[in-house]
Amino acid sequence: MKIAIVGTGYVGLTSGVCFSELGNEVVCVDVNAEKINQLNCGIMPIYEPGIKELVIKNKENKRLRFTTNLKEAVNRSEIIIIAVGTPSLLDGNVDLSYIFAVANEIGSYINNYKVIVNKSTVPVGTADDVKRIIFNNLVDKKIDFDVASVPEFLKEGSAIKDFFQTERVIIGTESNKARDLLVKLHKPLNSSIQTTDIRSAELIKYAANSFLAMKISFINEIANLAELVGADIKEVARGIGSDSRIGNKFLNAGIGFGGACFPKDTKGLVKIAEQVGLEFSLLQEVIHINERQYNVILDKLKLVIPDLKGKKLAILGLSFKPNTDDMRDAPSISIIRELMIMEPSLTIRAYDPIAIESAKTAIKDNVQYFYTIEGALQDADACIILTEWEQITSFSLDRYKQLLTSPIIIDGRNCFDSEDMDKAGINYLSIGRQNKVYSPL
Ligand code: UDX
Repeated sequence: MKIAIVGTGYVGLTSGVCFSELGNEVVCVDVNAEKINQLNCGIMPIYEPGIKELVIKNKENKRLRFTTNLKEAVNRSEIIIIAVGTPSLLDGNVDLSYIFAVANEIGSYINNYKVIVNKSTVPVGTADDVKRIIFNNLVDKKIDFDVASVPEFLKEGSAIKDFFQTERVIIGTESNKARDLLVKLHKPLNSSIQTTDIRSAELIKYAANSFLAMKISFINEIANLAELVGADIKEVARGIGSDSRIGNKFLNAGIGFGGACFPKDTKGLVKIAEQVGLEFSLLQEVIHINERQYNVILDKLKLVIPDLKGKKLAILGLSFKPNTDDMRDAPSISIIRELMIMEPSLTIRAYDPIAIESAKTAIKDNVQYFYTIEGALQDADACIILTEWEQITSFSLDRYKQLLTSPIIIDGRNCFDSEDMDKAGINYLSIGRQNKVYSPL
C-alpha cells in the first residue's frame, strides 16, 4: 500500500520505516529540510536502536523515501498518517497547532479518496476538528475522504520491537471503507486488531499512558512506605506482580517517570477531563507524586553527606530511561538543578553513554561531562545513579570503590543488590529498601 507519514520524529520515523519493512511504499515528510537531507544521507535525527539499518535497507529497496514535498506525498498515497508533535502548553493543555497546520495543507492537496490517520496523541474529539479543517480546505468539495485514529504504543529505546511485536492495534474509524483499508495495512503484524469508534481510540491512548504512569507513581509511593515500615520494595513488587490482574511490568520503583509522553499525557488528560467538567483528582495525584519523587535522592544524599560544600558528585545516567538520547522531562534535569540550589559549590561530574549532547542543551547548570564512567567517578565523593544503562549496572563494584574517594552510591533506579554492595563495602542507598547507612561523612 502507498503511505505518507507526516513528521519524522520518534513516532513518525519509526512507524514509516517499519511500514516500509512490511512491504509498503512509504514516503516520510517533514518541514525540516535539514532533517530530510540528513535522512537522505543515512544520518538519523534520533537515537533508536536498529532504526538506521532499517532506513538504509528500505531506502535501497526503494520502499522508503524522505521529502519536504507534502503535496506530492499526499497525491501519491492512499493513507496519510499524521505523526507530528503534540507538546504540552504551559497550562498543561495539548498544543494541536502542528496537527491543524498539517490538516490545513492536506485538505488543499487531496486529489482523490484518502484516509487521514491521527497517530499523534491527541485529545478526544480532535479527529472531528481535523475532518472539519480538511473539508474546509478541499479544492473540490465532492472529493471523499475519511479521518481515523490509530494511536501508537511504542516505547523509546525499543520502538522497532514494540512495532513488530505490538500486543494490539487500535483502529478508530467512522466508515467501513476506512476501517477495512486500515485493517489491511496492519494485518501483516499478526497482532490482535481492535476496530472501534474514533473517540474511543483517542481516549484509549491517554488512558493507557495514564494507567501506566499511575502504576509507577503507585509503586513509588509504596516504596516510600516500604522504607518506613522496614519492607523491601523489590519483594513487594514481586509479590503483587505475580497476580495476573496486576502484572509484573511497570512496577520498578525509582525517581519517577520522565520522557515525552507520560508527563505530557497525564497533564493533558487532566485538562481534557476539566474541559468537560470532570475533576480527575486521581490523575492529579499521580502527577504530584511523580513531581516530588526525585526528592528521595536528595534526602538520601543529605543523610550520608550532610555538608555538601565543595564536594564532587558523580551522576551516572542522564537520559529519562536507558537506550535513548531523549532528555525530555528527564528526572536528571530537576535533580541537578536542585543540587546546585542546595550547594552552589558542588562539582557535578556527569556520564551518559548516549545522551550527553542532548543533556548539554537540556541542563542549564554548570556540569562537567565525561564520556566514560571512570572519568565521572574519579575522585568523586559520592555517586548518584539516575538511569539504569547496562554500562552502569554492569560496571564492577570494585572499580566503583577504587575510583570514588568515599564508597557511597545512591541508586535512583535500584540497579544493584544490597547484599552485593554490603560485601563490596560500599555505602549503598536505594529506594524502598532497607539502607544500612554507615556513619555520615
Ligand atoms: C511510554 C509508553 O510506555 C508507550 O507505550 C507510549 O507509546 C509512549 O510513552 P516511553 O515514554 O518511551 O513509552 O518509555 P517507558 O518505557 O514507558 O518509560 C517511561 C518512564 O517511566 C521512564 O522515565 C521510565 O524510567 C519510567 N519507568 C518505567 C519507571 O519509573 N518504572 C517502571 O517500572 C517503568
